[in-house]
Amino acid sequence: MNYKNILSETQNGITTITINRPEKLNALNRATIKELHLAFKAADEHKKVKVVIITGSGEKAFVAGADISEFADFSVAQGEQLAAEGQAKLFDFVAHLSTPVIAAVNGFALGGGLELAMAAHFRIASDNAKMGLPEVSLGVIPGYGGTQRLPQLVGKGRAMEMIMTAGMIDASTALQYGLVNYVTPQPELLELANKLADKISRNSSVAIAAAIAAINAGYEDGENGFDEEITQFGKCFGTADFQEGTQAFLEKRKANFPGK
Ligand code: COA
Repeated sequence: MNYKNILSETQNGITTITINRPEKLNALNRATIKELHLAFKAADEHKKVKVVIITGSGEKAFVAGADISEFADFSVAQGEQLAAEGQAKLFDFVAHLSTPVIAAVNGFALGGGLELAMAAHFRIASDNAKMGLPEVSLGVIPGYGGTQRLPQLVGKGRAMEMIMTAGMIDASTALQYGLVNYVTPQPELLELANKLADKISRNSSVAIAAAIAAINAGYEDGENGFDEEITQFGKCFGTADFQEGTQAFLEKRKANFPGK
């Protein structure tokens, strides 16, 4: 598919989606959100794709936020719809994808940018990255899941401070907070993302999808993560991947998972 605002490339079972509006610091306008939805959906439906990496183009920004120019004159109803649509199409969609998503944060990740990185299953960052939710400095609050996912990742007190001050934290603070798993020099960021993706793709994609569902359930209202774990655990016993994984172990060979 031809996209205008993003690039999507698949190699060795790893799809790299790059938000490509560097002149606007990769700000998320509506068209970009739509394209990202399509690219994530296509990757998830592609049997051979085992991991998705999301990053930003250029050396300055992952994503500098939602595109402020698009919502500056919105009404209450339009504001609510903007958040609901964005969450459904992109942020919740990514968080619930069966295919693992790694955010490679290569610079500013602000507002919707940090919210996108937080919707990914985990994050790594370059040493020049800066992260924050500056929405209250614009008279609004994070609307793409930031008020929920930031406290889940860094704890309530730190999230309150970051959101109230609208400040940015640097990569080493993000590492210390557990917001990102690793920090690398910028030229090595995608190399590390690919290395992690490669390691993930050697395991059972069916079991990984089950693990994502079980982990997510613990963070959702009205769901019991332990119950979901029991259901997903049981389901694994009916998969060809489980047959192959256990058989390979008993035969002292490397598993070759069929992915079903
Ligand atoms: N929405 C729309 N456009 C944005 C944007 C956003 N969130 N973030 C950056 N841009 C645009 C700028 O308007 C500018 O466009 P122009 O050259 O046509 O004027 C271009 O990207 C470059 O940004 P600029 O501000 O000149 O870069 P900088 O290095 O001086 O500052 C930031 C970088 C990230 C500190 C600054 O761009 C910023 O504060 N952006 C907004 C962050 C924000 O509040 N995000 C949350 C939105 S809810």
